[in-house]
Amino acid sequence: MGWHRVANAGDVAEGAVIEVEVGNQQVALYRVAGELFATDNICTHAFACLHEGYLEGHTIECPLHQGIFDIRSGEPLEGPVDEPLRTFPVKTEGDDVLIEI
Ligand code: FES
Repeated sequence: MGWHRVANAGDVAEGAVIEVEVGNQQVALYRVAGELFATDNICTHAFACLHEGYLEGHTIECPLHQGIFDIRSGEPLEGPVDEPLRTFPVKTEGDDVLIEI
């Protein structure tokens, strides 16, 4: 448990999602309306990488079966998903993006 530097602030553009890693943990890092969010990158339904999905507002659609999660809470919203994603606190320090895991 602790804060880990995962990216430069410029690595994630507005309205985009990228994959970052903390140890062997895959995390999806999003920027929406200027704010950064982090969730598990692996869908809770089956094995699919959410950073390859479709980000619309504060929702991410899984590329495999189109399950939809709220990236702020991790809650499943639609589709075959019923388990929430874990979410992680994010902060910036200068140009560094840090995630608490
Ligand atoms: Fe994500 Fe099925 S793997 S909805």
